[in-house]
Amino acid sequence: MKKLFIIANWKSNKKELEVKEWIDKFKNYDLRFKNKEIIICPSFIHLPLLKSYILDHESIRLGAQDISKFDEGAYTGEVNGKQIREFAEYVIIGHSERRQNFSENEEVVNQKIKQAIKFGLKPILCVQDQNFKIQEKVEIIAYEPVFAIGTNNPDTPENADLVSTKIKENNLSNYIIYGGSVNSKNVNQFTQKPNIDGVLVGNASLDPLEFFEIIKNA
Ligand code: PGA
Repeated sequence: MKKLFIIANWKSNKKELEVKEWIDKFKNYDLRFKNKEIIICPSFIHLPLLKSYILDHESIRLGAQDISKFDEGAYTGEVNGKQIREFAEYVIIGHSERRQNFSENEEVVNQKIKQAIKFGLKPILCVQDQNFKIQEKVEIIAYEPVFAIGTNNPDTPENADLVSTKIKENNLSNYIIYGGSVNSKNVNQFTQKPNIDGVLVGNASLDPLEFFEIIKNA
């Protein structure tokens, strides 16, 4: 049985009370899946609360949604790798929403990958196709075509597997996952493909029951 990563990207959603409500529901579900690693990526401010919750759960890990390209110091508003490492094991880097809305280019993405590795964080690098270049070995690469993000219009599992295969051939990466309009009904079509090692889930992860169903059906 291959290892699968089921990653929740909450983006800029949820107040503290809503995070508590999510946890209250999610903790009732049986998460003892041998081959599935669950990673929750909330806003920075919710990492401490989620850390206290996941202490009881071997199969759940935490991730940040971004990382500063700088070390600690005079960079107002930034959260650096050393700070993130106190709470999380993973960090999403290069999400298309950051590339579009915050002008993140390849140079910035590469600086962030370096910072993550420097502080012992495992990058989840988001790419839109197989045409990109990175020098470092990153733990997870997420193939996320822009047309599929938040649109209820996922890529076909066949094409996602084809792109994942090419990414795997050209890069030093342990795992390739797919993201873009994944839900509990379609997740299995992606995870059963030979070169797809999991999913990155946005909208559908905001609801605890739907996210649990995704984990179960993956
Ligand atoms: P979506 O987002 O599941 O809402 O399409 C995925 C992502 O942006 O990681």
